[in-house]
Amino acid sequence: MSTQRFLTGITTSGTPHLGNYVGSIRPSVQASRRADVESFYFLADYHALIKIDEPARIQRSTLEIAASWLAAGLDPERVVFYRQSDVPEIPELTWFLTCVIGKGVLNRAHAYKAAVDKNTAAGTDPDSDVTAGLFMYPVLMGADILMFNAHQVPVGRDQIQHIEMARDMAHSFNHRYGEHFVPPEAAIDEHVATLPGLDGRKMSKSYDNTIPLFASRAELKKLIGGIVTDSKAPQEPKSTEGSALFQIYQAFASTQETAAMRQAYADGIAWGDAKQLVFERIDQEIAPMREAYLALINNPAKIEAILRAGATRARAIATPFMGRLRHAVGLRDLSAQDNARAAKTGKVAKPLFKQYRESDGQFYFKLVGTDGTLLLQSLGFESPKDAGQAIGLLQKQGAAALPELSAKLQAIDPASVALVNAALQGMLEAD
Ligand code: TRP
Repeated sequence: MSTQRFLTGITTSGTPHLGNYVGSIRPSVQASRRADVESFYFLADYHALIKIDEPARIQRSTLEIAASWLAAGLDPERVVFYRQSDVPEIPELTWFLTCVIGKGVLNRAHAYKAAVDKNTAAGTDPDSDVTAGLFMYPVLMGADILMFNAHQVPVGRDQIQHIEMARDMAHSFNHRYGEHFVPPEAAIDEHVATLPGLDGRKMSKSYDNTIPLFASRAELKKLIGGIVTDSKAPQEPKSTEGSALFQIYQAFASTQETAAMRQAYADGIAWGDAKQLVFERIDQEIAPMREAYLALINNPAKIEAILRAGATRARAIATPFMGRLRHAVGLRDLSAQDNARAAKTGKVAKPLFKQYRESDGQFYFKLVGTDGTLLLQSLGFESPKDAGQAIGLLQKQGAAALPELSAKLQAIDPASVALVNAALQGMLEAD
């Protein structure tokens, strides 16, 4: 089984609530424990600037979200856990992608369109109060994903369009400059619930109906007491259909517990008693994390150190990759002019196999074209010998070896198949 790279970010614009926990934090921590998954999780603080102009709130939210992820069990040794703004290659890549994505594609982005529609309905200028940051949001998000060539991006349904745009950017860039990016896919987990909030609508900061993930026990009890119900009296049978309380319970309870609650509804449990059960069930899961959270939040220097260590690991990948991308687009060291040298010596550079080890401890190789473009990129091998054998096969058989090796190679963009074939053919002939 080949390793899949998962990557996801949370915008640092607020205090994490139960909806964030159930929809994003809890499943991402679970995924990070899978042996076949390599995870990149980050705090999207550049994204926060689009929505928020209160510096203290961004700082506080960054601390709270980092502490929540860690308290929920994220192991920063196992996962590359970092803060977006610690990786300057991301805004640099944003510019490269800005120059390959059509403006018309961004015109169609949901968030931007919603703002324009609202202005149009109000009879104001369509772009009134719309920053260029909001317009560019999908490009920044594309850079987040493509910087680490993530295969899978676990997100909510509202983000699918952004992943499609990231694919679009990957294809456009690859088409112009050679095979550099893996087109990512949205990973939508059918089992992950969208949590209703206090008023029954989706739990969301914008509806002001949230339950903070790490509310105190007393506060949690009080908030759960405020979840809307109908006005059925004790003893009267109650419907689970459309019951926000029931849905929230279900997101925390086992199948058996959920079945028992369904029965209690049918048997006419009083709302007050049902709320008490929901409160205790949620608190059972949250209480141990709450302690860890409070300890972390009171030790911001520790979180800062964890994030900086994560950024070092992220940049161990991003810096060399960005170097290859800069070269690919023509931002090059002038003293190392390949063409000038070739012109002088009459020798033409040949495509090259390069073998290397990455911070995940695995061994990789890639085939780099004469102009530095990435033609083939392997996935991780257990040993340098395994990687060497795959290279040997390609050197001996050329493109004929590709189907056999497909499980160990990143997908080749259809637009560059011809380039890869030509390079391998050229190597065969040169021998
Ligand atoms: N836009 C995402 C949200 O608001 C957060 C985010 C930023 C993200 N960059 C990302 C998610 C990259 C996944 C991958 O939820």
